Amino acid sequence: MTTTQPVRVLRSDDPEAARLLDSGARVRSESWGARLTVTPDVLDTCRAAVDAAREAGWTVRALAPEEATALVALDAGAAGDYPVTVATSHDVPDAGELGAALAAGERWAFGAFAADGRLDAATVLYPVADRVDIDFTVTRAAARRRGLATAVKGAAVLDLAATGRTRFGTGGSGDNVASRRANEALGYVVTERWLHLEA
Ligand SMILES: CC(C)(COP(=O)(O)OP(=O)(O)OC[C@H]1O[C@@H](n2cnc3c(N)ncnc32)[C@H](O)[C@@H]1OP(=O)(O)O)[C@@H](O)C(=O)NCCC(=O)NCCS
Repeated sequence: MTTTQPVRVLRSDDPEAARLLDSGARVRSESWGARLTVTPDVLDTCRAAVDAAREAGWTVRALAPEEATALVALDAGAAGDYPVTVATSHDVPDAGELGAALAAGERWAFGAFAADGRLDAATVLYPVADRVDIDFTVTRAAARRRGLATAVKGAAVLDLAATGRTRFGTGGSGDNVASRRANEALGYVVTERWLHLEA
């Protein structure tokens, strides 16, 4: 019979995490949260990221609700690439629901389109109390490491900052170096780390 150890998710600065580690707990995985406050420098950095993708041949812009189908197809193709931990997971959205949320202003989406119109990268965001959070970001496997995730995240900040949004949040798995670096490149600062501890 296989038994699964329960995993406790605690902030890295929680004294209970230190106590558990001292008594032999193992860090099974980690996650992190990051915040960005819009400043003139941040806007310049976002503009540079978007410009670099445009110069490399992609069109970077907001997605219309009827483009939700292309976004979901892109995401479905990368679903197996999202690192899964007890605190981070991803479900491919339903195209109809995502399109309706975009139309209602409950979600925003920004994408990078290749010259032939193929959607190669996208990010989806939603409003929370005092900020805008990133729901997910995805780049087609064949188009990775060309700055597209950074560009679509940058486009989102530029567009939403123009409507008065100045605080952004995101997070992810400790294993997801690409996601963390794309955020940090734009000015997101990691504000918290979470340890997933197994006794
Ligand atoms: C995470 C993801 C969106 C990054 O997309 P991308 O378009 O390749 O990212 P970028 O090209 O903008 O690269 C961003 C940074 O990450 C770095 N990076 C990209 N892939 C990397 C990898 N596999 N390992 C280490 N660093 C990586 C880049 O060098 C860049 O850092 P730099 O600015 O310091 O050079 C893409 O890997 C992906 O779709 N993964 C599956 C879905 C996922 O995990 N989404 C994020 C969680 S919501």
